Amino acid sequence: MTTSAIHRGLAGVVVDTTEISTVIEETNSLTYRGYPVQDLAARRSFEEVAYLLWHGELPDADRLREFRARERALRPLDRSLSELLARLPATCHPMDVLRTAVSLLGAEDPAEDDGSPAANRAKSLALLARLPVVVAADHRRRRGLDPVRPDPELGYAENFFHMCFGTVPAPEVVRCFEVSLILYAEHSFNASTFTARVVTSTLSDLYSAVTAAIGALKGPLHGGANEAVMHMLEEIGSPERAETWLDEALAAKRKIMGFGHRVYKHGDSRVPLMQEATDRLVARAADPEATRLATLHAALRQAMLSRKGIHPNLDYPAGLAYHLMGFDTPAFTPLFVMSRITGWTAHITEQLAHNALIRPLASYAGPAQRPVPAAVR
Ligand code: ACO
Repeated sequence: MTTSAIHRGLAGVVVDTTEISTVIEETNSLTYRGYPVQDLAARRSFEEVAYLLWHGELPDADRLREFRARERALRPLDRSLSELLARLPATCHPMDVLRTAVSLLGAEDPAEDDGSPAANRAKSLALLARLPVVVAADHRRRRGLDPVRPDPELGYAENFFHMCFGTVPAPEVVRCFEVSLILYAEHSFNASTFTARVVTSTLSDLYSAVTAAIGALKGPLHGGANEAVMHMLEEIGSPERAETWLDEALAAKRKIMGFGHRVYKHGDSRVPLMQEATDRLVARAADPEATRLATLHAALRQAMLSRKGIHPNLDYPAGLAYHLMGFDTPAFTPLFVMSRITGWTAHITEQLAHNALIRPLASYAGPAQRPVPAAVR
């Protein structure tokens, strides 16, 4: 079968409608359910944004209280999951741990086959509550430390720091983390969300869709870029080397991690806010190493803009911010998962509400039909 036009990578193809988020090209802004993400990040908590993405409206005070109480109550992990995680090889990537954890949560969920909207909302909230516990336990395990239990007295972001480090940092640091969670939460039909929608379109279950989405996010052209940014900064080493390194990398046709975007060609609307929050972390750290990294970060951004005219995407400032917050580099993409679980599950619900099997065509480019030779004896 042939098709008249081939859209490699589905670039420019509109495959469905969505009411969840959009990029407004004229203003280069991103909205969640109609609200500019910058305003949400400035005025609202990550929990409120999660509620907004799932329910279509921001919660009032009573609904928010109830939502927070339910999230906090769902945090503790079953023993079976904790034991399985402890047995996984320390050499495997934290994204593999997360993918395995979601798979096990699905296998152990008695309501696994119930794809009703109410059941899926309950599963989404349970994942939102438990994924941070998995990420934190794995972060500590790699440092040879025992897990720290979730604290139901603490908010989502504070509790995560508590579970990773046994302590909650200054409010500005927590706020910077929360800004990253809000900015990462949702981005329309990006590769991992589309993956979740493809799996859902076959009427498979939510855990299968999320497991597949984690696999898609892991790649360095998508969510894995925040981790790759840090590796790249370490490889460059010093601000003075930024330009030479970039010229050599571009000559070798390497992709520069944390730059470029399929949708934003004149700059990612989420970057200015994340960069500001990251700059505040650098100023707060008042540490020569943080300043050196920030100078290198800025030098590479400037060089990339002057050499290629390509702007950074959200992963560029987020990668540096996560490093400055004290997270180990391999944990960066799991932090993205903790946030994007909200967007993925909102899209799973939307896909189910108006489902059509996602099944594109391909233009065949293989050999013409030919006879099968006699079997070899
Ligand atoms: N480094 C070097 N060159 C780049 C980069 C980059 N980061 N991004 C785009 N380009 C160049 C391409 O080489 C291409 O040049 P050419 O026309 O001379 O061949 C041109 O810009 C267009 O780029 P495409 O790869 O065709 O753009 P596409 O929309 O397919 O790719 C992508 C977008 C995958 C994000 C790309 O910019 C990239 O690989 N970036 C690095 C990885 C990254 O940061 N990913 C995170 C994405 S955002 C997120 O997940 C939150």
